[in-house]
Amino acid sequence: MAETVRAVAERFPGVETIEGAGVRLRRSFSNREVPLFDPFLLLDRFGSENPDDYLAGFPWHPHRGIETVTYLLGGEVEHGDTLGHQGVIRGGDLQWMKAGSGIIHQEMPKRTDGVLQGFQLWINLPRSEKMTVPAYRGLSAPTIPSVETDKGARVRVVAGEFQKVEGPVQRERVEPTYLDVTVPAGGVFEHRTRPGDTVFAHLISGTARFDPTDPRPSSAGETVLFKPGDLVRVSPDQDGARFLLVAGRPLHEPVAWYGPIVMNTSDELREAVRELRSGAFVRHRGPTVEE
Ligand code: CO
Repeated sequence: MAETVRAVAERFPGVETIEGAGVRLRRSFSNREVPLFDPFLLLDRFGSENPDDYLAGFPWHPHRGIETVTYLLGGEVEHGDTLGHQGVIRGGDLQWMKAGSGIIHQEMPKRTDGVLQGFQLWINLPRSEKMTVPAYRGLSAPTIPSVETDKGARVRVVAGEFQKVEGPVQRERVEPTYLDVTVPAGGVFEHRTRPGDTVFAHLISGTARFDPTDPRPSSAGETVLFKPGDLVRVSPDQDGARFLLVAGRPLHEPVAWYGPIVMNTSDELREAVRELRSGAFVRHRGPTVEE
């Protein structure tokens, strides 16, 4: 049987948002889109040449029930958390944090000469993993493998697999794929996806067609959600294109969402808020670096 190329279901230009203590960012999708992107909950793109847009940062705040994936293209972000991790991530680095039963952390962009640019993606945890031990994974740029395809694309494999190269992050239930793809003009990018997976792409720079049948190319900043199918095919226009490609198995579970806490029921949210007030929110301290 012929393989079907995924068509674009919907495009998301993103919405200007102020988050944290006053960071200007662009939100591609969030709680209004539930359950469209299941198991993905939110994608923010932050970045500016003007430090006033980001220096306020994201001071100490909690998370529970999700994973947060922070990918920095440029600039520096200082972080610290209740597991005892502390450090600075730079362009090309990524942190994959499983909040599980609860973590409190801060993410503070620093003033640098270059442009701050990066992404934060939230991935929902299945009910069975929401209250598990939190874990933090810091991936420095050299630990993320890069693959060159015979059609000229360069692919950084963060999670999942691309052309038999496995990314450092592997997860059982959602089996997320997280790729940073650069395709030069005249190149084509293809990637096989599980038919039932939720798949989306965010165009970082350039222009590209994410759907062979779509007459209008996407421009930088746009997020496209794909329809079901066997593979994704992307053709950049004359400037080439760089984009994130993210895929995962949907959870099909109820979503109860309150700020940085995402559970299955409103009772669980109330309990989380009660625990935050009483100081019982964080159950695990000390490093639990996951391999
Ligand atoms: Co956070």
